[in-house]
Amino acid sequence: MSQNLVVVGAQWGDEGKGKLVDLLTEKAEVIVRFQGGNNAGHTIVVHGKETILHLIPSGILHPDKICLIGNGVVLDPEVFCRELDSLQNNGVSVGPERLKISHKTHLIMPYHKRLDNLREKIRSGGTRIGTTGRGIGPAYEDKVARVGVRAVDVLDEDLLRGKIAKALEEKNILCEHHFGEAPDSAEDVLQQVLPWARRLKPYLADVSGEIQRARDAGQNILFEGAQGTLLDVDHGTFPYVTSSNTVAGNAAAGSGCGMFTIDEVVAVVKAYTTRVGGGPHPTEIEDEAGTHMRERGAEYGATTGRQRRCGWLDLVCLREAVRLNTPTNLAITKLDVLGGLSEIRVCTEYEHEGVRLSHPPQKEGGLQEVKPVYTRLEGWQEDISGVRSWDDLPRAARDYIQFIEDNLGVKVGYISVGPGREQTLIR
Ligand code: GDP
Ligand code: IMO
Ligand code: MG
Repeated sequence: MSQNLVVVGAQWGDEGKGKLVDLLTEKAEVIVRFQGGNNAGHTIVVHGKETILHLIPSGILHPDKICLIGNGVVLDPEVFCRELDSLQNNGVSVGPERLKISHKTHLIMPYHKRLDNLREKIRSGGTRIGTTGRGIGPAYEDKVARVGVRAVDVLDEDLLRGKIAKALEEKNILCEHHFGEAPDSAEDVLQQVLPWARRLKPYLADVSGEIQRARDAGQNILFEGAQGTLLDVDHGTFPYVTSSNTVAGNAAAGSGCGMFTIDEVVAVVKAYTTRVGGGPHPTEIEDEAGTHMRERGAEYGATTGRQRRCGWLDLVCLREAVRLNTPTNLAITKLDVLGGLSEIRVCTEYEHEGVRLSHPPQKEGGLQEVKPVYTRLEGWQEDISGVRSWDDLPRAARDYIQFIEDNLGVKVGYISVGPGREQTLIR
Protein backbone atom coordinates (compact mmCIF):
# COMPACT_ATOMS: atom_id res chain seq x y z
CA MET A 1 0.00 0.00 0.00
CA SER A 2 1.25 3.49 -0.74
CA GLN A 3 2.56 5.52 2.19
CA ASN A 4 2.11 9.22 1.59
CA LEU A 5 3.73 12.09 3.36
CA VAL A 6 3.42 15.88 3.44
CA VAL A 7 6.40 18.13 4.17
CA VAL A 8 5.51 21.63 5.36
CA GLY A 9 7.35 24.55 6.87
CA ALA A 10 6.39 25.32 10.48
CA GLN A 11 7.67 28.91 10.61
CA TRP A 12 7.94 31.81 8.14
CA GLY A 13 9.46 29.77 5.31
CA ASP A 14 13.05 28.86 4.42
CA GLU A 15 13.15 26.13 7.07
CA GLY A 16 15.00 23.74 4.76
CA LYS A 17 12.01 22.04 3.11
CA GLY A 18 13.87 21.61 -0.17
CA LYS A 19 16.69 19.70 1.49
CA LEU A 20 14.26 17.45 3.34
CA VAL A 21 12.08 16.76 0.29
CA ASP A 22 15.17 15.85 -1.73
CA LEU A 23 16.24 13.48 1.05
CA LEU A 24 12.81 11.88 1.48
CA THR A 25 12.34 11.52 -2.29
CA GLU A 26 14.39 8.34 -1.98
CA LYS A 27 11.36 6.68 -0.38
CA ALA A 28 8.78 8.08 -2.82
CA GLU A 29 7.96 7.63 -6.50
CA VAL A 30 5.90 10.78 -6.99
CA ILE A 31 6.58 14.30 -5.66
CA VAL A 32 3.86 16.98 -5.78
CA ARG A 33 3.89 20.74 -5.23
CA PHE A 34 0.39 21.76 -4.09
CA GLN A 35 0.46 25.52 -3.38
CA GLY A 36 2.46 28.72 -3.78
CA GLY A 37 4.52 29.57 -6.82
CA ASN A 38 7.97 30.90 -7.55
CA ASN A 39 7.88 33.00 -4.39
CA ALA A 40 9.45 29.80 -3.03
CA GLY A 41 13.17 29.13 -3.19
CA HIS A 42 14.08 25.58 -2.24
CA THR A 43 17.77 24.79 -1.97
CA ILE A 44 19.24 21.34 -2.48
CA VAL A 45 22.90 20.51 -2.11
CA VAL A 46 24.09 17.21 -3.58
CA HIS A 47 27.82 16.34 -3.63
CA GLY A 48 28.59 19.99 -2.91
CA LYS A 49 26.56 21.26 -5.89
CA GLU A 50 23.76 23.69 -5.07
CA THR A 51 20.47 23.79 -6.96
CA ILE A 52 17.74 26.31 -6.13
CA LEU A 53 14.25 25.39 -7.31
CA HIS A 54 11.38 27.86 -7.34
CA LEU A 55 8.61 25.96 -9.05
CA ILE A 56 9.58 22.46 -10.06
CA PRO A 57 9.32 19.94 -7.18
CA SER A 58 12.48 19.24 -5.20
CA GLY A 59 12.36 15.57 -6.18
CA ILE A 60 13.50 16.40 -9.73
CA LEU A 61 17.20 15.69 -9.06
CA HIS A 62 16.35 12.00 -8.59
CA PRO A 63 16.20 10.84 -12.22
CA ASP A 64 13.60 8.10 -11.92
CA LYS A 65 10.89 10.01 -10.02
CA ILE A 66 7.69 11.67 -11.28
CA CYS A 67 7.20 15.34 -10.36
CA LEU A 68 3.76 16.94 -10.41
CA ILE A 69 2.62 20.56 -10.16
CA GLY A 70 -0.85 20.59 -8.66
CA ASN A 71 -3.90 22.77 -9.21
CA GLY A 72 -3.19 24.71 -6.00
CA VAL A 73 0.02 26.18 -7.42
CA VAL A 74 0.20 29.45 -9.36
CA LEU A 75 2.64 28.95 -12.20
CA ASP A 76 4.61 31.64 -13.99
CA PRO A 77 5.14 30.13 -17.47
CA GLU A 78 8.24 32.27 -18.08
CA VAL A 79 9.86 31.03 -14.86
CA PHE A 80 8.83 27.47 -15.62
CA CYS A 81 10.60 27.65 -19.02
CA ARG A 82 13.69 29.21 -17.42
CA GLU A 83 13.80 26.52 -14.74
CA LEU A 84 13.45 23.80 -17.40
CA ASP A 85 16.40 25.25 -19.32
CA SER A 86 18.55 25.62 -16.25
CA LEU A 87 17.93 22.03 -15.12
CA GLN A 88 18.49 20.70 -18.64
CA ASN A 89 21.78 22.61 -18.89
CA ASN A 90 22.82 20.85 -15.72
CA GLY A 91 22.05 17.43 -17.13
CA VAL A 92 18.73 16.89 -15.33
CA SER A 93 16.03 15.30 -17.47
CA VAL A 94 12.81 17.30 -17.34
CA GLY A 95 10.70 15.78 -20.11
CA PRO A 96 6.91 15.55 -19.92
CA GLU A 97 7.18 11.84 -19.12
CA ARG A 98 8.33 12.77 -15.61
CA LEU A 99 7.17 16.34 -15.10
CA LYS A 100 3.50 17.25 -15.31
CA ILE A 101 1.36 20.33 -14.69
CA SER A 102 -2.32 20.16 -13.80
CA HIS A 103 -4.70 21.55 -16.42
CA LYS A 104 -6.30 23.42 -13.52
CA THR A 105 -3.17 25.24 -12.35
CA HIS A 106 -3.59 29.00 -12.58
CA LEU A 107 -1.00 30.98 -14.51
CA ILE A 108 0.83 34.05 -13.30
CA MET A 109 0.61 36.61 -16.09
CA PRO A 110 2.85 39.66 -16.66
CA TYR A 111 0.10 41.96 -15.33
CA HIS A 112 0.04 40.07 -12.01
CA LYS A 113 3.72 40.84 -11.45
CA ARG A 114 3.17 44.44 -12.46
CA LEU A 115 0.27 44.87 -10.04
CA ASP A 116 2.17 43.16 -7.19
CA ASN A 117 5.05 45.62 -7.59
CA LEU A 118 2.88 48.72 -8.10
CA ARG A 119 0.99 47.96 -4.90
CA GLU A 120 4.15 47.44 -2.87
CA LYS A 121 5.57 50.70 -4.24
CA ILE A 122 2.74 52.83 -2.90
CA ARG A 123 2.61 51.12 0.51
CA SER A 124 4.66 52.99 3.04
CA GLY A 125 7.23 51.62 5.52
CA GLY A 126 5.52 49.38 8.08
CA THR A 127 2.48 48.62 5.93
CA ARG A 128 4.64 47.09 3.22
CA ILE A 129 4.18 43.31 3.13
CA GLY A 130 7.53 42.85 1.46
CA THR A 131 6.18 40.43 -1.14
CA THR A 132 8.59 38.66 -3.43
CA GLY A 133 7.14 40.71 -6.31
CA ARG A 134 6.42 37.53 -8.25
CA GLY A 135 2.72 38.28 -8.82
CA ILE A 136 1.57 35.60 -6.39
CA GLY A 137 -1.17 37.60 -4.62
CA PRO A 138 -2.74 39.05 -7.79
CA ALA A 139 -2.74 35.62 -9.48
CA TYR A 140 -4.59 34.02 -6.56
CA GLU A 141 -6.99 36.99 -6.52
CA ASP A 142 -7.90 36.33 -10.15
CA LYS A 143 -8.48 32.66 -9.38
CA VAL A 144 -10.89 33.48 -6.57
CA ALA A 145 -12.49 36.27 -8.63
CA ARG A 146 -12.99 33.67 -11.40
CA VAL A 147 -11.11 35.61 -14.06
CA GLY A 148 -7.83 33.66 -13.82
CA VAL A 149 -6.06 32.10 -16.79
CA ARG A 150 -5.48 28.37 -16.28
CA ALA A 151 -2.80 26.15 -17.76
CA VAL A 152 -5.38 24.33 -19.89
CA ASP A 153 -6.25 27.62 -21.62
CA VAL A 154 -2.95 27.52 -23.52
CA LEU A 155 -4.51 24.82 -25.72
CA ASP A 156 -6.88 27.36 -27.28
CA GLU A 157 -5.35 30.64 -28.45
CA ASP A 158 -8.69 32.39 -28.96
CA LEU A 159 -9.89 31.44 -25.52
CA LEU A 160 -6.59 32.62 -24.07
CA ARG A 161 -6.89 35.95 -25.87
CA GLY A 162 -10.41 36.45 -24.54
CA LYS A 163 -9.45 35.54 -20.99
CA ILE A 164 -6.52 37.95 -20.96
CA ALA A 165 -8.76 40.75 -22.27
CA LYS A 166 -11.35 40.01 -19.59
CA ALA A 167 -8.76 39.91 -16.80
CA LEU A 168 -7.34 43.22 -17.95
CA GLU A 169 -10.66 45.11 -17.99
CA GLU A 170 -10.62 46.10 -14.31
CA LYS A 171 -6.84 46.04 -13.95
CA ASN A 172 -6.37 48.63 -16.64
CA ILE A 173 -8.79 51.00 -14.90
CA LEU A 174 -6.77 50.51 -11.72
CA CYS A 175 -3.50 51.01 -13.58
CA GLU A 176 -4.54 54.27 -15.22
CA HIS A 177 -6.64 55.89 -12.53
CA HIS A 178 -5.15 54.59 -9.30
CA PHE A 179 -1.48 54.10 -10.14
CA GLY A 180 -1.28 56.65 -12.96
CA GLU A 181 0.40 54.13 -15.26
CA ALA A 182 -0.21 53.13 -18.87
CA PRO A 183 -2.74 50.30 -19.39
CA ASP A 184 -1.71 46.89 -20.79
CA SER A 185 -2.74 45.82 -24.27
CA ALA A 186 -4.30 42.35 -24.26
CA GLU A 187 -2.75 41.57 -27.64
CA ASP A 188 0.74 42.54 -26.43
CA VAL A 189 0.35 40.36 -23.35
CA LEU A 190 -0.85 37.47 -25.51
CA GLN A 191 2.13 37.77 -27.87
CA GLN A 192 4.49 37.88 -24.88
CA VAL A 193 2.95 34.79 -23.33
CA LEU A 194 2.49 32.63 -26.46
CA PRO A 195 6.06 31.27 -26.76
CA TRP A 196 5.98 30.10 -23.12
CA ALA A 197 2.44 28.79 -23.54
CA ARG A 198 3.56 26.63 -26.48
CA ARG A 199 6.28 25.06 -24.38
CA LEU A 200 3.81 24.33 -21.60
CA LYS A 201 1.44 22.24 -23.74
CA PRO A 202 3.17 18.84 -23.58
CA TYR A 203 3.45 19.11 -19.80
CA LEU A 204 -0.30 19.40 -19.18
CA ALA A 205 -1.78 16.41 -17.37
CA ASP A 206 -4.55 15.19 -15.13
CA VAL A 207 -2.55 15.46 -11.91
CA SER A 208 -5.37 14.14 -9.77
CA GLY A 209 -5.50 11.09 -12.07
CA GLU A 210 -1.71 10.69 -11.82
CA ILE A 211 -1.98 10.58 -8.04
CA GLN A 212 -4.73 7.98 -8.21
CA ARG A 213 -2.66 5.91 -10.64
CA ALA A 214 0.31 6.04 -8.28
CA ARG A 215 -1.85 4.99 -5.34
CA ASP A 216 -3.32 2.09 -7.29
CA ALA A 217 0.22 0.97 -8.13
CA GLY A 218 1.20 1.09 -4.45
CA GLN A 219 3.65 3.93 -5.05
CA ASN A 220 4.52 6.45 -2.34
CA ILE A 221 3.66 10.11 -2.83
CA LEU A 222 5.49 13.02 -1.26
CA PHE A 223 3.68 16.36 -1.06
CA GLU A 224 6.05 19.34 -0.96
CA GLY A 225 4.83 22.44 0.85
CA ALA A 226 6.14 25.92 0.15
CA GLN A 227 6.41 28.98 2.44
CA GLY A 228 5.53 28.21 6.06
CA THR A 229 2.61 27.85 8.43
CA LEU A 230 2.96 31.41 9.80
CA LEU A 231 2.59 32.73 6.23
CA ASP A 232 -0.70 30.84 5.69
CA VAL A 233 -3.37 33.21 4.32
CA ASP A 234 -5.89 32.14 6.99
CA HIS A 235 -3.78 31.05 9.94
CA GLY A 236 -0.62 33.12 9.54
CA THR A 237 0.27 36.61 10.70
CA PHE A 238 -2.38 38.28 8.56
CA PRO A 239 -2.05 40.56 6.58
CA TYR A 240 1.71 39.84 6.50
CA VAL A 241 1.17 36.49 4.81
CA THR A 242 1.32 34.90 1.39
CA SER A 243 -1.88 34.31 -0.58
CA SER A 244 -2.29 30.54 -0.26
CA ASN A 245 -2.96 27.97 2.46
CA THR A 246 0.43 26.65 3.40
CA VAL A 247 -0.76 24.15 6.03
CA ALA A 248 -0.59 20.38 5.48
CA GLY A 249 -4.38 20.20 5.14
CA ASN A 250 -4.14 21.93 1.77
CA ALA A 251 -2.02 19.15 0.27
CA ALA A 252 -5.14 17.18 -0.67
CA ALA A 253 -7.18 20.07 -2.12
CA GLY A 254 -4.15 21.59 -3.84
CA SER A 255 -3.31 18.41 -5.72
CA GLY A 256 -6.66 16.76 -6.26
CA CYS A 257 -6.90 13.82 -3.86
CA GLY A 258 -8.91 12.94 -0.76
CA MET A 259 -7.57 13.80 2.68
CA PHE A 260 -7.24 10.14 3.69
CA THR A 261 -4.55 9.82 1.02
CA ILE A 262 -2.15 11.30 3.55
CA ASP A 263 -0.51 9.12 6.18
CA GLU A 264 2.20 11.32 7.65
CA VAL A 265 3.09 14.97 8.07
CA VAL A 266 6.63 16.20 8.65
CA ALA A 267 6.86 19.79 9.89
CA VAL A 268 10.23 21.36 9.17
CA VAL A 269 11.51 23.60 11.96
CA LYS A 270 14.65 25.70 11.70
CA ALA A 271 16.59 25.52 15.01
CA TYR A 272 16.06 29.28 15.33
CA THR A 273 13.60 31.63 13.60
CA THR A 274 13.91 33.68 10.42
CA ARG A 275 11.53 35.85 8.48
CA VAL A 276 11.92 37.74 5.17
CA GLY A 277 9.68 40.70 4.44
CA GLY A 278 7.40 42.67 6.76
CA GLY A 279 5.29 41.66 9.75
CA PRO A 280 5.76 40.71 13.40
CA HIS A 281 8.62 38.50 14.60
CA PRO A 282 8.53 38.49 18.42
CA THR A 283 11.88 36.79 19.01
CA GLU A 284 13.83 38.85 16.45
CA ILE A 285 17.26 39.93 17.71
CA GLU A 286 19.79 42.34 16.32
CA ASP A 287 22.62 41.54 18.71
CA GLU A 288 25.70 39.37 18.34
CA ALA A 289 23.68 36.14 18.42
CA GLY A 290 21.52 37.48 15.57
CA THR A 291 24.61 38.27 13.52
CA HIS A 292 25.98 34.80 14.33
CA MET A 293 22.78 33.20 12.95
CA ARG A 294 22.77 35.37 9.82
CA GLU A 295 26.42 34.81 8.98
CA ARG A 296 26.84 31.15 10.01
CA GLY A 297 23.42 30.30 8.61
CA ALA A 298 23.91 32.36 5.41
CA GLU A 299 20.46 33.85 6.03
CA TYR A 300 19.92 35.62 2.75
CA GLY A 301 16.80 34.79 0.72
CA ALA A 302 17.05 32.08 -1.98
CA THR A 303 14.52 33.96 -4.13
CA THR A 304 15.14 37.66 -3.60
CA GLY A 305 18.55 37.71 -1.90
CA ARG A 306 17.12 39.83 0.92
CA GLN A 307 18.61 39.57 4.40
CA ARG A 308 16.50 37.31 6.63
CA ARG A 309 15.47 38.68 10.03
CA CYS A 310 16.90 36.26 12.61
CA GLY A 311 15.77 35.41 16.14
CA TRP A 312 15.50 32.72 18.80
CA LEU A 313 13.27 29.67 18.46
CA ASP A 314 9.65 30.61 19.18
CA LEU A 315 7.77 27.69 20.78
CA VAL A 316 4.56 29.73 21.08
CA CYS A 317 4.30 30.06 17.30
CA LEU A 318 5.44 26.45 16.89
CA ARG A 319 2.71 25.19 19.26
CA GLU A 320 0.24 26.85 16.92
CA ALA A 321 1.98 25.27 13.91
CA VAL A 322 1.70 21.84 15.56
CA ARG A 323 -2.00 22.38 16.18
CA LEU A 324 -2.55 23.46 12.57
CA ASN A 325 -0.59 20.67 10.88
CA THR A 326 -0.74 17.77 13.39
CA PRO A 327 2.73 16.60 12.35
CA THR A 328 3.68 12.99 12.98
CA ASN A 329 7.33 14.08 13.06
CA LEU A 330 9.44 17.19 13.23
CA ALA A 331 12.59 17.81 11.22
CA ILE A 332 14.95 20.23 12.99
CA THR A 333 17.28 21.93 10.52
CA LYS A 334 20.37 24.11 10.77
CA LEU A 335 21.24 22.86 14.25
CA ASP A 336 24.91 23.28 13.29
CA VAL A 337 24.40 27.04 12.98
CA LEU A 338 23.82 27.39 16.73
CA GLY A 339 27.24 25.89 17.54
CA GLY A 340 29.62 28.42 19.12
CA LEU A 341 26.98 30.34 21.09
CA SER A 342 27.59 30.30 24.83
CA GLU A 343 23.88 30.38 25.60
CA ILE A 344 20.77 29.58 23.58
CA ARG A 345 17.41 31.11 24.36
CA VAL A 346 14.04 29.58 23.60
CA CYS A 347 10.79 31.49 23.81
CA THR A 348 8.33 29.30 25.72
CA GLU A 349 5.53 31.82 26.39
CA TYR A 350 4.50 35.40 25.62
CA GLU A 351 3.57 38.14 28.03
CA HIS A 352 0.63 40.12 26.66
CA GLU A 353 -1.62 42.62 28.42
CA GLY A 354 -0.48 41.34 31.81
CA VAL A 355 -1.07 37.65 31.12
CA ARG A 356 1.07 34.72 30.03
CA LEU A 357 0.13 33.15 26.69
CA SER A 358 1.14 29.74 25.39
CA HIS A 359 -0.46 30.39 21.97
CA PRO A 360 -0.33 33.54 19.81
CA PRO A 361 -3.01 36.18 20.52
CA GLN A 362 -5.88 35.98 18.02
CA LYS A 363 -6.44 39.67 17.34
CA GLU A 364 -4.81 41.25 14.30
CA GLY A 365 -1.54 42.88 15.24
CA GLY A 366 -1.50 41.08 18.62
CA LEU A 367 1.84 39.50 17.82
CA GLN A 368 3.36 43.00 17.53
CA GLU A 369 2.53 43.62 21.18
CA VAL A 370 3.78 40.46 22.89
CA LYS A 371 6.95 40.18 24.93
CA PRO A 372 8.71 36.81 24.66
CA VAL A 373 9.47 34.87 27.85
CA TYR A 374 12.72 32.96 27.46
CA THR A 375 14.26 29.82 28.91
CA ARG A 376 18.05 29.88 28.72
CA LEU A 377 19.80 26.70 27.67
CA GLU A 378 23.48 25.87 27.54
CA GLY A 379 25.18 26.18 24.15
CA TRP A 380 27.86 23.94 22.64
CA GLN A 381 31.14 24.90 21.02
CA GLU A 382 31.75 21.88 18.78
CA ASP A 383 31.28 21.89 15.00
CA ILE A 384 28.56 19.27 14.53
CA SER A 385 28.34 19.40 10.72
CA GLY A 386 30.14 16.06 10.47
CA VAL A 387 28.04 14.29 13.11
CA ARG A 388 25.81 11.48 11.80
CA SER A 389 24.42 9.85 14.93
CA TRP A 390 22.42 11.02 17.94
CA ASP A 391 24.96 9.70 20.43
CA ASP A 392 27.77 11.71 18.81
CA LEU A 393 25.97 15.04 19.25
CA PRO A 394 27.24 17.18 22.15
CA ARG A 395 25.08 16.78 25.27
CA ALA A 396 23.87 20.40 25.06
CA ALA A 397 22.66 19.85 21.47
CA ARG A 398 20.78 16.71 22.52
CA ASP A 399 19.25 18.62 25.43
CA TYR A 400 18.12 21.34 23.01
CA ILE A 401 16.33 18.81 20.78
CA GLN A 402 14.85 17.08 23.82
CA PHE A 403 13.56 20.44 25.10
CA ILE A 404 11.77 21.06 21.80
CA GLU A 405 10.29 17.56 21.75
CA ASP A 406 9.04 17.83 25.33
CA ASN A 407 7.50 21.26 24.78
CA LEU A 408 5.77 20.46 21.50
CA GLY A 409 4.87 16.86 22.24
CA VAL A 410 6.05 15.69 18.81
CA LYS A 411 8.95 13.40 18.03
CA VAL A 412 11.96 14.88 16.23
CA GLY A 413 12.57 12.34 13.48
CA TYR A 414 15.19 14.22 11.47
CA ILE A 415 18.06 16.48 12.52
CA SER A 416 19.90 18.42 9.84
CA VAL A 417 23.45 19.58 10.55
CA GLY A 418 24.43 21.04 7.18
CA PRO A 419 23.03 21.83 3.73
CA GLY A 420 24.26 18.57 2.14
CA ARG A 421 21.92 15.63 1.53
CA GLU A 422 24.15 13.42 3.68
CA GLN A 423 24.35 15.89 6.58
CA THR A 424 21.27 14.47 8.25
CA LEU A 425 20.60 12.33 11.32
CA ILE A 426 17.56 10.10 11.03
CA ARG A 427 16.26 8.92 14.41
P1 GDP B 1 13.28 26.13 2.00
O1 GDP B 1 12.66 27.30 1.33
O2 GDP B 1 12.51 25.69 3.21
O3 GDP B 1 13.53 24.97 1.08
O4 GDP B 1 14.68 26.62 2.54
P2 GDP B 1 15.76 27.52 1.71
O5 GDP B 1 16.42 26.69 0.70
O6 GDP B 1 15.15 28.78 1.26
O7 GDP B 1 16.74 27.94 2.88
C1 GDP B 1 17.43 27.01 3.63
C2 GDP B 1 18.93 27.28 3.49
O8 GDP B 1 19.63 26.59 4.51
C3 GDP B 1 19.51 26.77 2.20
O9 GDP B 1 20.57 27.58 1.83
C4 GDP B 1 19.98 25.37 2.55
O10 GDP B 1 21.04 24.91 1.73
C5 GDP B 1 20.47 25.60 3.95
N1 GDP B 1 20.37 24.45 4.87
C6 GDP B 1 19.39 23.51 4.93
N2 GDP B 1 19.60 22.69 5.99
C7 GDP B 1 20.72 23.14 6.60
C8 GDP B 1 21.43 22.74 7.77
O11 GDP B 1 21.06 21.82 8.48
N3 GDP B 1 22.55 23.47 8.10
C9 GDP B 1 22.98 24.53 7.34
N4 GDP B 1 24.07 25.16 7.74
N5 GDP B 1 22.34 24.92 6.24
C10 GDP B 1 21.22 24.25 5.88
P1 IMO C 1 9.91 29.15 0.74
O1 IMO C 1 9.05 28.10 0.07
C1 IMO C 1 10.15 32.87 2.95
C2 IMO C 1 7.09 35.89 2.12
C3 IMO C 1 7.55 37.16 1.46
C4 IMO C 1 6.55 38.15 2.04
C5 IMO C 1 5.27 37.32 2.10
C6 IMO C 1 4.31 37.55 0.94
O2 IMO C 1 11.23 29.33 0.10
O3 IMO C 1 9.98 28.89 2.20
P2 IMO C 1 4.38 36.80 -1.61
O4 IMO C 1 5.38 37.09 -2.67
O5 IMO C 1 4.18 35.35 -1.33
O6 IMO C 1 3.09 37.51 -1.81
O7 IMO C 1 5.03 37.47 -0.28
O8 IMO C 1 5.67 35.97 2.13
N1 IMO C 1 7.45 34.64 1.41
C7 IMO C 1 8.42 33.80 1.80
N2 IMO C 1 9.30 33.90 2.82
N3 IMO C 1 10.14 31.77 2.18
C8 IMO C 1 9.24 31.64 1.18
O9 IMO C 1 9.11 30.51 0.46
C9 IMO C 1 8.35 32.71 0.93
N4 IMO C 1 7.38 32.93 0.02
C10 IMO C 1 6.83 34.11 0.34
O10 IMO C 1 8.87 37.48 1.82
O11 IMO C 1 6.91 38.47 3.36
MG1 MG D 1 13.19 29.22 0.65
